Amino acid sequence: MGLGDHRRLITVSDPDALAQTAAERLLTRIAGNPGRIAICLTGGSSPKRLYGLLAQDPYRRRIPWERVHWFIGDERLVAPGDPLHNMSMAREILLDRCAPADNIHPIPTDHPSPDECARRYERELKSFYGAEQPDPAKPLFDVVLMGAGPDGHTASLFPGYAALDERARWVVGVPTAPVEPHVPRVTLTFPALEACREMLFEVAGGEKRAILTRLLAGENLPANRAQSVGETVWLIDKGALPESFGGE
Ligand code: 6PG
Repeated sequence: MGLGDHRRLITVSDPDALAQTAAERLLTRIAGNPGRIAICLTGGSSPKRLYGLLAQDPYRRRIPWERVHWFIGDERLVAPGDPLHNMSMAREILLDRCAPADNIHPIPTDHPSPDECARRYERELKSFYGAEQPDPAKPLFDVVLMGAGPDGHTASLFPGYAALDERARWVVGVPTAPVEPHVPRVTLTFPALEACREMLFEVAGGEKRAILTRLLAGENLPANRAQSVGETVWLIDKGALPESFGGE
């Protein structure tokens, strides 16, 4: 990243190449785990091409669906089925076509308090994991997918919000988001997101160039603070890459 840390930046030509590279990396992680696999998906628009690819052959037939469990890194406090609901987007494009229903783990949004929804999801994650504390030798997730918002947020970890400093809880409620859609959120915290073999950011398109310039300059923004206990990879297409980093 030019940041003096261990994150790796991979540049690809365009959003299609980005989705393909992400799919290959995901499949490599899946192939490397002969047991139960946990993938943490992300919302927003960036992962849609990837989800579409995974739903089709050859990727679809390479995924051992019975062994893969699907979680989500953050959710907007709207009803399932709402166009703003992150997991519903992933279900529609990918999961409902391919995954056993019991392997899909949405964040509950049926309680008006995001904190209560967060508590329930934390219980679900801990029960799936089988321990109260993440053990770096046994990551909770095989892959955590991430995106970067225009203000440098990732998941629903927004600049200046209390959730950024949470080190004990795995999931917290977030008051109304400062960016669209302006609704309360529920988000996994850094300690939960970090507990993965690979954290994979997808960043594409010219509208990401301004925030990417700030992130690559090392600004203290949430997306820069998110790093896996294993490998952290930023997949970036040429349209998003600042000129000083070889972008078009
Ligand atoms: C959300 C997301 C969020 C997203 C970024 C990037 O619920 O909004 O999980 O963190 O990943 O905002 O979003 P885009 O892919 O739409 O640019």
